[in-house]
Amino acid sequence: MKIVCIGGGPAGLYFALLMKQQNPAHDITVVERNRPYDTFGWGVVFSDQTMEHMRQWDPVTADEIERSFAHWDDIELHIKGRVIRSGGHGFVGIGRKKLLNILQARCEQLGVKLVFETDAESDADYADADLVIASDGINSKIRTRHAAVFKPDIVTRPNRFIWLGTKRLYDAFTFLFEKTEHGWFQAHIYKFDETTSTFIVECPEHVWKAHGLDQANADDSVAFCEKLFAENLRGEKLMTNARHLRGSAWLNFQRITCQQWSLFNGRSHVVLMGDAVHTAHFAIGSGTKLALEDAIELTKQFRDHGNHTEVDADEIADVLKNYQAERRIDVLRLQNAAWNAMEWFENCGERYCDQLEPEQFMYSMLTRSQRISHENLRLRDKAWLEGYERWIAARAGLDEPADKHAVPPMFTPYTVRGLTLKNRVIVSPMAQYSAVDGIPGDYHLVHLGSRALGGAGLVFAEMTCPTPDARITPSCPGLWNDTQRDAWKRIVDFVHQHSDAKIAIQLGHAGPKGSTNEPWVGTGADRPMADGNWPLVAASDQPYEPGVTDVPRAMSRADMERIRDDFVDATERANQAGFDWLELHCAHGYLLSAFISPLTNRRTDDYGGSLTNRLRWPLEVFSAMREAWPQDKPMSVRISAHDWVEGGITPDDAVEIAKAFKAAGADLIDCSSGQVSPDQKPVYGRMYQTPFADRVRNEAGIATIAVGAISEADHVNSIIAAGRADLCAVARPHLANPAWTLQEAAKIGYTALDWPVQYRSGKTQMETLIQRERAALTAAAPAAKPRGDGT
Ligand SMILES: Cc1cc2nc3c(=O)[nH]c(=O)nc-3n(C[C@H](O)[C@H](O)[C@H](O)COP(=O)(O)OP(=O)(O)OC[C@H]3O[C@@H](n4cnc5c(N)ncnc54)[C@H](O)[C@@H]3O)c2cc1C
Ligand SMILES: Cc1cc2nc3c(=O)[nH]c(=O)nc-3n(C[C@H](O)[C@H](O)[C@H](O)COP(=O)(O)O)c2cc1C
Repeated sequence: MKIVCIGGGPAGLYFALLMKQQNPAHDITVVERNRPYDTFGWGVVFSDQTMEHMRQWDPVTADEIERSFAHWDDIELHIKGRVIRSGGHGFVGIGRKKLLNILQARCEQLGVKLVFETDAESDADYADADLVIASDGINSKIRTRHAAVFKPDIVTRPNRFIWLGTKRLYDAFTFLFEKTEHGWFQAHIYKFDETTSTFIVECPEHVWKAHGLDQANADDSVAFCEKLFAENLRGEKLMTNARHLRGSAWLNFQRITCQQWSLFNGRSHVVLMGDAVHTAHFAIGSGTKLALEDAIELTKQFRDHGNHTEVDADEIADVLKNYQAERRIDVLRLQNAAWNAMEWFENCGERYCDQLEPEQFMYSMLTRSQRISHENLRLRDKAWLEGYERWIAARAGLDEPADKHAVPPMFTPYTVRGLTLKNRVIVSPMAQYSAVDGIPGDYHLVHLGSRALGGAGLVFAEMTCPTPDARITPSCPGLWNDTQRDAWKRIVDFVHQHSDAKIAIQLGHAGPKGSTNEPWVGTGADRPMADGNWPLVAASDQPYEPGVTDVPRAMSRADMERIRDDFVDATERANQAGFDWLELHCAHGYLLSAFISPLTNRRTDDYGGSLTNRLRWPLEVFSAMREAWPQDKPMSVRISAHDWVEGGITPDDAVEIAKAFKAAGADLIDCSSGQVSPDQKPVYGRMYQTPFADRVRNEAGIATIAVGAISEADHVNSIIAAGRADLCAVARPHLANPAWTLQEAAKIGYTALDWPVQYRSGKTQMETLIQRERAALTAAAPAAKPRGDGT
């Protein structure tokens, strides 16, 4: 087979040498526009794991690379005059030039032809090749030429960065954060050989412009960075080798994905590889790893197809199809993690640098990709993590425990106004549709009572309605009369007498989503009842689902006053029933949410149009309730922080909504999302709504509740420890297991938890069984130490 690799970076060179090694009869050429020693960049890092993979495929190259490695374990943070260091992260670094030279030498040794100083214009120039590898990097000409087939999606990110080097040697992966009069800069630094470290400086576009760096040439830029980080550089210079770049040498990262990775150009098969087909931001340091692993996978596919010398066109097409199928998921997973990490660095100046104390900032930074969890950090550096757990516990008002065992963040108390929750877990409000005439009965007593005994700090009763026509279904509970109040009081009293959990109520009005069946009746949730319907009200006369749900009446000012007063009456009854906490439901397309979202509020008066107008009535309701609710009891507001529909509420709006409720006296924002429009396209995943809680907390400066696919103690611990939220609401897992919190504590080996006295003999048994199960699993497959998340 005749193979031409256009581009002699890690992807092209490594593929060439692996294929030549696999079958020396192949005729392989690498065409590179640069000279052999003329390359951009300084060092690259990758993980121990990538090295192991390379060793399986070519031990000679792996040995060579290993001899040139800088290896280190620690990450060190410098911010606001503090230095914090944690270990166990396991990186390897190597100079990019050194890496390429090793790959070039190995290519020559195996008989690959290397052609330098040749700028390949097109794959068509190599018409006699059976296979053209487009390994021509991020600005791939070949990809651009065939853009209609490859369908690249290129997203240019807002931050600016410059890739520099220095002779100051660092013994840890080092992150510097420096504040200037215009904003924050960060440097990502790692040593890659005995004399040099990579020094990448990054900042938001507006900060870069405010410093005039858009007008600066490369020398001015280097001088600027040297001055900014002078103290840390200790007199060493910064250097650029970006001769190939023009202008100021500052770049924007481009995230690239392609729908199609290969094609047939009429003469040759052409396939994209490495940065040409996908990029991963340097915040996770995996671009080279991806390029090398592409090369390995394609080589493997040829091997699995028989490793023939002559491969016919259909066979090549098959191999290329398999290559894309095999690589796509891994690449996507890594790109997602890289995206999270990149966004963290893009936003850290606005969101975290000033807000978080250095200890918490470090934790947030280490978990930025959301691939590294709390327990994963424990495996990396137990001592550091336990020190941090003690720090969090002290912040939550806990004394140093006598046995010196740290309290996991999930089990630290939380105080707001006059109320202290014993831990950070909430049983999220969940409609049960089991009330009769709005009266909660024995079902609710058992349901909420058992969850109160199950370990959560706060148990939420479901959405409860201030009037009969505010209900979602005829079986929703209410608080419009004293019978209902007294029925609730029975439940509240049980919780207070038999558990140390607190109990909350959520008040809400269904608005345009009212008068529907219980989900298990007829055609299901959000479908109108067959008969007995009541008239609906909403911000506008727009049905939730046109043609399916009833058309509501647009509310008049008199309606607003009446419903506001109904909410106040229900608030007073909630207090009389003894609830500890009150939440106003402004999410999920119900009445107050329908005022806030531009998708459902089409009014042209003072209550429609701008966000300020759309918030006017919900804030009026909230303020009236706050007035009626005792000052020492907390109030939260649940919002849909993202409508997941073009033109709807976005997380940017959520920050503004949170600020408005904060100004009106809200203590926490409960950050849910969606259910405002049947056209929504949510992106689900574990902890998928937590980024909204994080953003609201750290940008609007108000405590938050995270909710949505939080299903393990590890999730809760990471969220609380990183300062992404103050509390975590867990819904569906509590349907399956009322004692979710008790069980999760046992799973992470936290035994210092009080169980209800009646249940105590179950505690030791559960802990023992879980420990045994774990021991058996570990014996069967010892846990590998996770290493090398890259920068
Ligand atoms: C600031 C920064 C820091 C990074 N840090 C890391 C890190 O720590 N770890 C990591 O793994 N990755 C890192 N990367 C990414 C890494 O450099 C790339 O992902 C990796 O080099 C991709 O390899 P490649 O072979 O696909 O492309 P490249 O390395 O870009 O190679 C493409 C080659 O093709 C050549 N070429 C292009 N067009 C033509 C043409 N028309 N004719 C002939 N030759 C051509 C180029 O000269 C180049 O040599 C970083 C990137 C940046 C920008
Ligand atoms: C059966 C059920 C009923 C729900 N009822 C309510 C409710 O009354 N009020 C509310 O704000 N959210 C309600 N939700 C949403 C949950 O509180 C929670 O936000 C959502 O289920 C995501 O959390 P999870 O992934 O832990 O389940 C309900 C969810 C379920 C599964």
